[in-house]
Amino acid sequence: MKKLLVTGISGFLGWHIAEHAQSDFQLIGIYNKTKLELKNIQLEQLDLTNQSAVSNFLKKHQPDAILHLAANSNPNYCEQNPLSEIINVKVTEHLASNCAEQNISFLFTSTDLVFDGKNAPYTTTGSPNPIMVYGKQKLEAEQKVLKVFPKAIIARMPLMYGLPKNGLGFMNAWLRNLQAGKNVYCFTDEYRTATFGGDAAQGIFALLNNKAKGIFHLGGLERMSRFEFATQMAEHFGLDKNLIIPSLQKDVNMPAKRPADVSLDSNNTFTFGFVPKKLEDNLEKLSSSF
Ligand SMILES: NC(=O)c1ccc[n+]([C@@H]2O[C@H](COP(=O)([O-])OP(=O)(O)OC[C@H]3O[C@@H](n4cnc5c(N)ncnc54)[C@H](OP(=O)(O)O)[C@@H]3O)[C@@H](O)[C@H]2O)c1
Repeated sequence: MKKLLVTGISGFLGWHIAEHAQSDFQLIGIYNKTKLELKNIQLEQLDLTNQSAVSNFLKKHQPDAILHLAANSNPNYCEQNPLSEIINVKVTEHLASNCAEQNISFLFTSTDLVFDGKNAPYTTTGSPNPIMVYGKQKLEAEQKVLKVFPKAIIARMPLMYGLPKNGLGFMNAWLRNLQAGKNVYCFTDEYRTATFGGDAAQGIFALLNNKAKGIFHLGGLERMSRFEFATQMAEHFGLDKNLIIPSLQKDVNMPAKRPADVSLDSNNTFTFGFVPKKLEDNLEKLSSSF
């Protein structure tokens, strides 16, 4: 059985990877501060910024592949905390070079926010031009990974939705507010190709199993604004969509600027077996088990 190391197992995507993991992999999940309980996974605490601890950990566990999901993924936090570069760039480069030396398959999750939002939809040949610190860090990490390990997989993730049991993600927050009768403010001028976390996990395993290398986009099938998404979500969950208030980016004072449209063209990833489902179908399924 192949040994698969997953960093960021305690995060939003980590939960979906654990939930959709294939039985032919033995999973070792790394968390740092968030203790959690997940079945069928060996959980290990490790601060990835401790380079010698990471090197020792890899020598001890000798994985066949690493999914590197751990990051500081909050654009506003990264904008105000330059030290986020350590986890987002330095740790990523260090892991990739260890993988290159030890011939371990390596997949790094980047973001659609490497684009400036002016020329969507973006294929993998589109020119990145990030407009916020987080996007700049992820792009720098992509470039460093491919330099030290050209056989690595860069999986550019879009906005991801889902209802992980760890309570993370924007959907959990929006549903809690709507259920409590509170307003949810959603942009009408920010477009993404959101993907369900479970579909993202399926795509990641498809890339890994099909020995992909280079850059891939894992966007969903539909381009839409957060407002359109929230409205459809409320309809499926039987909640009051009048509580969803359309808003514009300029109305909200955010430290990190957001690109207007970072929709991804993911056709190249479909040919590697990535099969995202329609938003409607995913919302139907999520609402029936809510
Ligand atoms: N969610 C999205 O919509 C989205 C969109 C585009 C791209 N992405 C990318 O997809 C990946 C996964 O995102 P996510 O939303 O799942 O992130 P997340 O929920 O914010 O989780 C981040 C994870 O990183 C771990 N981590 C942070 N610092 C660490 C350290 N020093 N040592 C070890 N682990 C550390 C955290 O562990 P602890 O909590 O245990 O400290 C946590 O498990 C990231 O690379 C992100 O940039 C996400």
